[in-house]
Amino acid sequence: MSDKLVIFDTTLRDGEQSPGASMTRDEKLRIARQLERLKVDVIEAGFAASSNGDFEAIQAIAHAIKDSTVCSLSRANDRDITLAADAVQGANRARIHTFIATSPVHMEKKLRMTPEQVLEQAKLAVRFARNRVADIEFSAEDAYRSEEDFLCRVIEAVIKEGATTVNVPDTVGYAIPELYGNFIKRLRERVPNSDKVIWSVHCHNDLGMAVANSLAGVMIGGARQVECTINGLGERAGNCSLEEVVMALRTRRDYFDLDVGVDTTQILAASRMVSQTTGFVVQPNKAIVGANAFAHASGIHQDGMMKARDTYEIMRAEDVGWTANKIVLGKLSGRNAFKQRLTELGVQMDSEAEVNLAFAKFKELADRKSEIFDEDILALVSEENVAQSHDQYGFVSLSQHSETGEVPQATVVMTIGGQEVTGTANGNGPVDASLKAIESNVKSGAEMVLYSVNAISGSTESQGEVTVRLQSSGRIVNGVGADPDIVVASAKAYLSALNKLQSQAERVSAQV
Ligand code: KIV
Ligand code: ZN
Repeated sequence: MSDKLVIFDTTLRDGEQSPGASMTRDEKLRIARQLERLKVDVIEAGFAASSNGDFEAIQAIAHAIKDSTVCSLSRANDRDITLAADAVQGANRARIHTFIATSPVHMEKKLRMTPEQVLEQAKLAVRFARNRVADIEFSAEDAYRSEEDFLCRVIEAVIKEGATTVNVPDTVGYAIPELYGNFIKRLRERVPNSDKVIWSVHCHNDLGMAVANSLAGVMIGGARQVECTINGLGERAGNCSLEEVVMALRTRRDYFDLDVGVDTTQILAASRMVSQTTGFVVQPNKAIVGANAFAHASGIHQDGMMKARDTYEIMRAEDVGWTANKIVLGKLSGRNAFKQRLTELGVQMDSEAEVNLAFAKFKELADRKSEIFDEDILALVSEENVAQSHDQYGFVSLSQHSETGEVPQATVVMTIGGQEVTGTANGNGPVDASLKAIESNVKSGAEMVLYSVNAISGSTESQGEVTVRLQSSGRIVNGVGADPDIVVASAKAYLSALNKLQSQAERVSAQV
């Protein structure tokens, strides 16, 4: 059996299915470039048939990415497969990932198909896909709750049709490590042509066991592909977290003894990029990428660490990309130094005009904040903070008054379709007043389902990064804004979410 483990990243597809995490084409492209720097083997760039926007995002990624395989999800029908094939065409390495549900509950209640119809559809889909692309992954959705004999028949049939990877998802996060590992093992033993494909695991985290289940699928079951996402982003409780599974494999190589091609020093940059883009904040005690993951607070631990690192540390922080917060640039730094730092941080700007815009914002920030950290630069250039020319709403300025015992009031100047308008409102606090001032002009009626503030570099001098999640007509979007003034950051985040609500076309959901 191969010693190489394929890392299949689905942040841009399954991760994007989290409520509010949907990303624009440019955001996806930026994350895909970071995934390539991270050296993941496969990037699942999206679900081409879900919307024109996703089709275009996959197409752009297929053209930009040179080293990783670029993959699109598709349901098991000709239209979806054609769109997936068209979207990944032009990639150096292209894959189509087609799926159909095989569990009794999904077949009967969701698909309203008999098992024989599902089997036939799966065969036709793989045969059709194989005419367009050589690298075909087949997933039996809800495989873990499927009837084993039937699943074996489906898998044997799709391998005969030319599938090259077979994925066995625990779609609802129901599995237990030992049971899931043995399930994969039995499937591999029972399917006569099982040696013709790479077996893959795809685990959801509903019971907090996605990483453990995936590793059991590898060690007990013999799977040689793990599907995972940065920060464990994904539907409901998320997917198997890439950083956790990769660092487990690397740190305990004595046990796993498998080759993983990931450049782990790029993990933190990827985690921050995904968190800043989606507005999904990483919890401080999250393994590997949480702010406290390498912090040793207690006196006993600190004493031990000073004497010998390995008293309490099983991994080196530097190996996953942690460096001490560095003051990298200041007020006097020039455009070249700024541009070079962007390159070092892996940020690629598409044009000189974009660099100029980001540099102007940097100068503005440096006037207000003497120490500029890498985190500030990343926040500055994150798409959310660089207003897009096609945005319907733009931030211009804000003034607010709040005093103990007085009702806070805010006035916001903003643009709507390029026209400057002003709104004034009272609120419970300055943030509330500012958002109400915006609403007095926009009248979106959207419901706010989440508001959170995070200090980008840890102190009160830091920029505040605000995430706002809005819900309207059944759609949920996140907006992110950063500024040293958290009231301004809140207004920017709110406007960013309104822009998303305004512009995003309806998407078809993969699993509905
Ligand atoms: O969870 C799941 O079953 C999926 C499949 C589409 C692979 O995401
Ligand atoms: Zn999934």
